[in-house]
Amino acid sequence: ASRERARILEMNRAAARFFHECLISPQGKEGLAYFEQRGLSMHTIRSFGLGYAPDGWNHLLGYLQQQGFRPEELAAGALALRGRNGGYYDAFRHRVMFPIIDLRGNVVAFGGRVLDDSKPKYLNSNDTPAFHKSKCLFALNFAKNSGGRSLILCEGYMDAIALHQAGFRNAVATLGTALTPEQVRLMARYAKEVVISYDADKAGQNASQRAIGLLTQAGLAVRVLRIEGGKDPDEFIRTHGADRFRMLLEHSGNHIEYRLASALQKYNVDITEQKAAYLKEAVEILATVESMVERDVYAGKLAETLGVSKENVLADAAALRAKRQ
Ligand code: GTP
Ligand code: MN
Ligand code: MN
Ligand code: MN
Ligand code: MN
Repeated sequence: ASRERARILEMNRAAARFFHECLISPQGKEGLAYFEQRGLSMHTIRSFGLGYAPDGWNHLLGYLQQQGFRPEELAAGALALRGRNGGYYDAFRHRVMFPIIDLRGNVVAFGGRVLDDSKPKYLNSNDTPAFHKSKCLFALNFAKNSGGRSLILCEGYMDAIALHQAGFRNAVATLGTALTPEQVRLMARYAKEVVISYDADKAGQNASQRAIGLLTQAGLAVRVLRIEGGKDPDEFIRTHGADRFRMLLEHSGNHIEYRLASALQKYNVDITEQKAAYLKEAVEILATVESMVERDVYAGKLAETLGVSKENVLADAAALRAKRQ
């Protein structure tokens, strides 16, 4: 199995080279124009080894066969698919390509994006002996050397790449799946803190709540960066620039503040019953905070904004903790 893995990695490296060469050759001009239109520099394109899979059924197959790889091997590496007639064809066609690189620098898989609005927008390699999607984070190979003890976690390839290009070299992305415990363990090897920077839509907010749970369980400090206006980090930087993003980053509150603020959105606290319901939920959140000093800080803010007694908020939270122990 380890020989099969080594062979797939060798093949992926050749494929990544092929996709990149295609991108910067005449047949890739649509792909290159796409990346340029999305604001990526040649330097970024080269560093991330981005590429283009040509339109057609056997461009990569032909190239890799010339290099001595058999079609069955391409299929085992998720680069080719097998048709009903038994023939093989390229899995990625007319897509811009993102090599997924592990911590040792191996190309373990690919993501591919359409150049327009067609569906599916992204394709990822299926799992292979060399690739387990749930155990990988895009750009962690770069981010692990970024020097700090903090990582920025976002949703998409383009978010991570745009952040790196803007100088945030500690950005990583999940590959379109929900965050997994394996990915959390991976981050915990390199970081003490994770700043969640998911899309500003409902899906991103739900995913953030889930990620907070997994990351704090692993003992990581967690902050949540909030982008207004339904954008994702890539769109935000394109619109407002890196400095504005840096401000969001610096002002991103920890996960308790984030949870208190998102819970607040569900209630109209001008109505007495709803204010009481919010406070009940807020006390539940506060009760998860270990440190009394920290609880005191949040309770103070809560009491001030809602015009209630801090001591009562703290007493309720302490009582809830006692009950749970
Ligand atoms: P762009 O349109 O290129 O900016 O993509 P995005 O990253 O903003 O996409 P979105 O927020 O919709 O999705 C986040 C991530 O989910 C993507 O980067 C992909 O990894 C993944 N994803 C999105 N759409 C699909 C899809 O159709 N299929 C699969 N398998 N993954 C997807
Ligand atoms: Mn997906
Ligand atoms: Mn989204
Ligand atoms: Mn996007
Ligand atoms: Mn997005």
